[in-house]
Amino acid sequence: METRIDEIADGIYRLSTYVPDIAPPAGFTFNQFLVLGDEPLMFHTGLRRMFASNCEALARILPPAKLRWIAFGHFESDECGAMNEWLAAAPQATPAHGQTGCMVSLEDFSTRAPRILADGEVIELGGGKRVRFIDTPHTPHGWDAGVLFEETTGTLMCGDLFTQLGDGPALTANDVVGPAIAAEDMFRYSSLNPAMGTTIRSLACLAPRMLALMHGPSFEGDGASALRALADDYDRRVSDEVAEMLRAAA
Ligand SMILES: [Fe+2]
Ligand SMILES: [Fe+2]
Repeated sequence: METRIDEIADGIYRLSTYVPDIAPPAGFTFNQFLVLGDEPLMFHTGLRRMFASNCEALARILPPAKLRWIAFGHFESDECGAMNEWLAAAPQATPAHGQTGCMVSLEDFSTRAPRILADGEVIELGGGKRVRFIDTPHTPHGWDAGVLFEETTGTLMCGDLFTQLGDGPALTANDVVGPAIAAEDMFRYSSLNPAMGTTIRSLACLAPRMLALMHGPSFEGDGASALRALADDYDRRVSDEVAEMLRAAA
């Protein structure tokens, strides 16, 4: 298992592990993001079984013991499975997550007390970096779901939103909406809900210049337009599901 490293924005690194056995022949990537600063933060911990590979990769950028924050989008193995391994490797690190996730999972699961982030709360990382946590409940899935926005670089670490197959380049300016629609058609991974389009569309006001996908390349370009287009597609899906339900009930 090999973990590749790319600097996708000033001081933000993408650690990417490609798994060819998931959804072959395209395969699937698992990405983590390291945000440097006086208090370095990692977004996503990766799976427990990927810890050795991810830790070795991170150590090429900075000693893992220097990590100060461990954050993620929602409680699942690829997002936070290796959290306690990272906390052991980084004695000064604190896990950080939204209020729901801390209440229902982290306050029990984590070996160290988490920092509980309110919707919109900022962690000042120093060194010109600040990250804002934004609640996105049930979007794309998970009651505790949220995203993290690094304000200086305009990087939205959007977790499973825009998930796509394949092992593309670290950075792309190509369309990321079409591949995300195709992956949703294949996996049906989202918790379709009436608020989903509105939740995704609300992220467009951040005007992100970079969308850092957990499963796919990082998209450099007009993040707001991509978010609005994705929101429109989820509105369509929800409408289609409701129409189908009404048809079946008639
Ligand atoms: Fe997920
Ligand atoms: Fe994920």
